[in-house]
Amino acid sequence: MYNIHLIKTSNYKIKLINPEDTHQVRHPVLRSGMPMESCIFDGDNFKTTIHLGLFDQVKLVGICSFFKNNRIDISETPQYQLRGMAILKEYQGKGIGNLILSHGETLLKTKNIQIVWCNAREVAVNFYKKSEYKIIGKPFDIKNIGLHYAMYKKL
Ligand SMILES: CC(C)(COP(=O)(O)OP(=O)(O)OC[C@H]1O[C@@H](n2cnc3c(N)ncnc32)[C@H](O)[C@@H]1OP(=O)(O)O)[C@@H](O)C(=O)NCCC(=O)NCCS
Repeated sequence: MYNIHLIKTSNYKIKLINPEDTHQVRHPVLRSGMPMESCIFDGDNFKTTIHLGLFDQVKLVGICSFFKNNRIDISETPQYQLRGMAILKEYQGKGIGNLILSHGETLLKTKNIQIVWCNAREVAVNFYKKSEYKIIGKPFDIKNIGLHYAMYKKL
């Protein structure tokens, strides 16, 4: 286990969590009004998948997950795909998204991962741009969720 799997700032703590734990945040933030099963992602249980949770005391308020998955249009490998990036509504805009994402990137770097990429919802594109993610390819639609942009960052 890596030393940085747990960080603690004055208010928040980031740790590795189980795939099922992510549902508490995935459901209200990313799959609102959809069945609970829609919170299960392919590969959630793979040994290579990393789920991070950010806690305010004991309350899980933010999540993101990283899946080992290469895009053929990016030459550097190995790559990880960021999925399920979500912060509870009342905690958004406080820098928490940034905190958990950069923690995840640091963790990936320790595993010699070169590239992290994601399919960003249109509303989140600027959030990723602020963290130096770049758009690759053309926007595309994901059924029931909306327009997405593939974005990547060289770590
Ligand atoms: C997108 C999300 C993860 C960002 O987390 P957050 O905690 O709200 O973001 P932060 O407060 O850490 O913001 C970091 C920076 O990105 C900017 N930012 C955050 N959300 C943004 C948005 N939707 N549009 C534009 N800029 C945004 C902030 O202004 C901030 O910039 P600054 O450092 O110059 O002040 C969060 O708002 C969320 O869960 N949204 C709903 C679900 C979602 O869209 N997830 C992404 C799926 S791809």
